[in-house]
Amino acid sequence: MSASNRTALITGATAGLGAEFAQQLAAARNNLVLVARDAARLEAKAVRLRQDFAIEVETISADLQSEEGIALVVQRLKEVESPVDILVNNAGFGLTKSFEQNTVQEESDHLQLLVATPMLLMHAALPGMLARGRGQIINVASVAGFIPRASYGACKAWLISFSRWANVHYKNRGVSVTAVCPGFVHTEFHQRMGATTSGIPQWMWLYPDRVVREGLADANSGKSVSVPSKRYKALTFLSKFSSDKFGAFAGTRGR
Ligand SMILES: NC(=O)c1ccc[n+]([C@@H]2O[C@H](COP(=O)([O-])OP(=O)(O)OC[C@H]3O[C@@H](n4cnc5c(N)ncnc54)[C@H](OP(=O)(O)O)[C@@H]3O)[C@@H](O)[C@H]2O)c1
Repeated sequence: MSASNRTALITGATAGLGAEFAQQLAAARNNLVLVARDAARLEAKAVRLRQDFAIEVETISADLQSEEGIALVVQRLKEVESPVDILVNNAGFGLTKSFEQNTVQEESDHLQLLVATPMLLMHAALPGMLARGRGQIINVASVAGFIPRASYGACKAWLISFSRWANVHYKNRGVSVTAVCPGFVHTEFHQRMGATTSGIPQWMWLYPDRVVREGLADANSGKSVSVPSKRYKALTFLSKFSSDKFGAFAGTRGR
């Protein structure tokens, strides 16, 4: 695909990695559809991106844990007149407590936003992308998807596994699917979940610009899985040989 005249829809586009995807995709001259709950923040972001990059920016204020919110985004993804070429499934949050201490509603909402919503949005976007013979789907997963890390790791493992299959299945029809798997990133994520980050060594932190730059480069190369930074590539490789007990211990950081 050429790097212009495309439209990218990004979920969770007001903060952290989603805001950075918006910034870098705008700089590459893509038009944008920004999705998040906070309407005022979405509009402020849209105004700034229109001014800075002279692109078209739509906003959809939607709670992607709700049927109504998902329906709004599904409807936009199915629009034939102004198609979405790039879908970035990014919105997410984490839970600090252990599985049995969370309410079943908290766990269900988490599963909804991290797995069911991306599945529904991919299902809505793919038929149009396949009919046009072009498209790109980026699923923001996590290195937590490679280790035992409660339901968060399990949700991200679903995204990684599905992206690996979908990339093989759809690539020869013009649609790539890439799971971007960051380690710890400086965003609002840990603050929002009320997690303790003091035990995380400095070298384990990444900045959103690098994660997104490497993620987009890997997606543009048609890779199924992108693990930004050499240090996390090495850790991910080593995790294949570690015991579940060690992996689960490593996964207690940042909760
Ligand atoms: N930060 C990390 O260390 C890290 C590491 C690995 C993977 N990740 C993954 O990266 C992705 C982005 O996280 P981040 O670190 O950028 O987090 P963040 O800074 O907290 O941003 C989260 C974004 O998602 C939106 N959002 C949250 N709940 C939503 C909902 N129910 N409906 C619609 N939008 C919603 C938020 O906007 P509103 O509140 O306005 O809705 C915000 O724009 C997540 O999938 C996360 O699991 C993060």
